[in-house]
Amino acid sequence: MQSFIVEKLIKPFDIVIDNIASDKSISHRCAMFSLFSDKPSTIKNYLRGEDTMDSLKIAQKLGAKIEDDGKIIKITPPETLNEPDDILDCGNAGTGMRLYAGLLSGIEGSFILTGDKYLRSRPMKRVTNPLRDIGASIDGREEGNKAPLHIRGGKLKSFKYHSPIDSAQVKSALILAGIQSDEISYYKEDLLSRDHTERMLNGMGAKISTKEDGWIEINPLEGKLRPLNITVPTDPSSAFFFAVAAAITPSSKVTLKNVTLNPTRIEAYKVLEQMGTKITYIKTDDVYEPIGDIIVEHAQLNGVTVDKNIAWLIDELPALSIAMSIANGKSVVKNAQELRVKESDRITAVLDSLKLCGVGYIEYNDGYLIEGGATLNTATINSQGDHRIAMSFAVAGLLCGMEIEDSQCIETSFPNFNHILDSLRK
Ligand code: S3P
Repeated sequence: MQSFIVEKLIKPFDIVIDNIASDKSISHRCAMFSLFSDKPSTIKNYLRGEDTMDSLKIAQKLGAKIEDDGKIIKITPPETLNEPDDILDCGNAGTGMRLYAGLLSGIEGSFILTGDKYLRSRPMKRVTNPLRDIGASIDGREEGNKAPLHIRGGKLKSFKYHSPIDSAQVKSALILAGIQSDEISYYKEDLLSRDHTERMLNGMGAKISTKEDGWIEINPLEGKLRPLNITVPTDPSSAFFFAVAAAITPSSKVTLKNVTLNPTRIEAYKVLEQMGTKITYIKTDDVYEPIGDIIVEHAQLNGVTVDKNIAWLIDELPALSIAMSIANGKSVVKNAQELRVKESDRITAVLDSLKLCGVGYIEYNDGYLIEGGATLNTATINSQGDHRIAMSFAVAGLLCGMEIEDSQCIETSFPNFNHILDSLRK
């Protein structure tokens, strides 16, 4: 089992970081959406993490030609997608599995989606049920709830579906199915989840629009889409570990370059601001979505209550819980039951780890209360196979020293995380 030690930081930092991992959500979508074009897509800064490389390998197994010069990845789609002669391995990626489930449901053929032991234990019913309802044949363990999933794709019916969960993975799976059906479909969620799918597919020529009453209208494709030509921006969820590092380290400051400023992705920065951190956003570009720099400066942190816009925070709550631990006063996270079905049960993983660091808390079914005002203890933290737990507690280690066990998972989303963490000491 891989592990590493983070030494306590002994002096403040003021650093500009321009090599944080590219956006994971957008990279997955580049691999998949390029398959809907008849021309090559050109992707600069594709995330070379395990999760997104798995999505690219799946595109290749489906017949795409991948050319990679180390900087730019060119994806040339096949005329029609192949029925692959092997299983399709999504690794650790829920996004890979759920979006490919929607995409492949509309393609004639037999497809088997599988993943690592963590992904194989995550719920898939949230996509397999609505996809079955519109005509996809999907089987899997626990009546289609657990991978491996066997999809026999084909013609799909249109739908009107109000999702019980605010999830971009569910929404995207249904959009990918809807654009392949013959008639207009409608999808609704209570809180708009990250909307890269709508923005990117529309940028390629699809017609997906959100009505005033919140229903998303999904028009069937009228032919092939334009190819993607994109530089993938920095992932705000990965950058957030260094935002927290600056927020908790006295007299420190970090400038995070070229981050997507999509409002559905930067809510955690807003929470840090609410806690007292000074944050500045400088928009520099707009390609499919707003992009820019985020500057984060340390200030004394205060406790906060987080009980809304949870879908916009779901990947950052583990790192926020580190800031909450040292903030003055209590912090509360509620309505966040989705945390229990991420790469790990993130409520249990966060609280078990905070306990080892000497932080007081109360656990709820759908969240937690963190006592605040803690001086963190050095501890040995097991990531439970979850990259975001590993990186959150590595950042906590800047204050007190920490050993992170089972750290291989960091490779799924942020391969150069340790290198950047080390650069804070220079
Ligand atoms: C993602 C959506 C989120 C997020 C995940 C990436 C995506 O999951 O947690 O890391 O790319 O669509 P849910 O939409 O299921 O909450």
